[in-house]
Amino acid sequence: MTASIIDGKALAGQIREEIARDTAEFTAATGATPCLAAVLVGDDPGSQVYVRNKQKACGRAGIDSQLYTPPANTATEELLALIDRLNRDPKVHGILVQLPLPDQIDERRVLEAVDPVKDVDAFHPENVGRIVQGRPRFLPCTPHGILQLLHRNDVATAGANVVVVGRSDIVGKPMAILLMQRGAQGDATVTVCHSRTRNLAEVTRGADILIVAIGRAKFITAEMVKPGAVVIDVGMNRTPEGLAGDVDFEHVKEVAGRITPVPGGVGPMTITMLLRNTLTAARLQTA
Ligand code: GUN
Repeated sequence: MTASIIDGKALAGQIREEIARDTAEFTAATGATPCLAAVLVGDDPGSQVYVRNKQKACGRAGIDSQLYTPPANTATEELLALIDRLNRDPKVHGILVQLPLPDQIDERRVLEAVDPVKDVDAFHPENVGRIVQGRPRFLPCTPHGILQLLHRNDVATAGANVVVVGRSDIVGKPMAILLMQRGAQGDATVTVCHSRTRNLAEVTRGADILIVAIGRAKFITAEMVKPGAVVIDVGMNRTPEGLAGDVDFEHVKEVAGRITPVPGGVGPMTITMLLRNTLTAARLQTA
């Protein structure tokens, strides 16, 4: 059996059209244009590509964007001063600080400095706390994109055994929290695996839905997947052979029931949810 492909690019296109319509309505009603300020410290080529793609997507959805590119040797205090300026700017509705930041910068202080109502990444502790309590202001972009991929492809999470491989603050941890919440988008039985998990393959083989965000190319092999499982690959690894996910796609697709490709799976959905959050932020600040 060969898995069917969950097409993130197509779904992202459809949701971006919805967001563009909602944005046009918002702008017509309020006279305000939602605006995202992206902060990219240093010149990491990968981050430059991500930020450029985010800006292009904003433009197509009718969302304004600003780009700030402080140099790699920027001090924490200087970055905090920039965040403060963006917090106070009424034209800026969303602030995104691209991670990772250079080593000398105190990442925690910077993320805590972003005004929670402009925190379109949902990285501020107040927003993380609200998510844990089931009363979110913004949903974190990658986990939200994955929920949309599942539910708009009729993959039910209620009662499902979901295994999340990876426990990062950006993906694994919030993904697990969202899936275990009460309600139609959650109600899953969630297991989180990481580098210290014993008998990993045994655990992953129990998954009806396997979500992989570990940052290691082709880490999940066919033997680790239950026949018919839904496999969501969050990985974006640059290898000598090109871009590779965290899942050994060629072999796993012979076992899984449905699978996301890399590229064209989770990636486009992440950016789409950032657009959604920027519109939400503009609504919150224009009420
Ligand atoms: N770096 C990798 N993923 C992300 C993300 O979702 N948001 C930001 N700001 N930086 C990232």
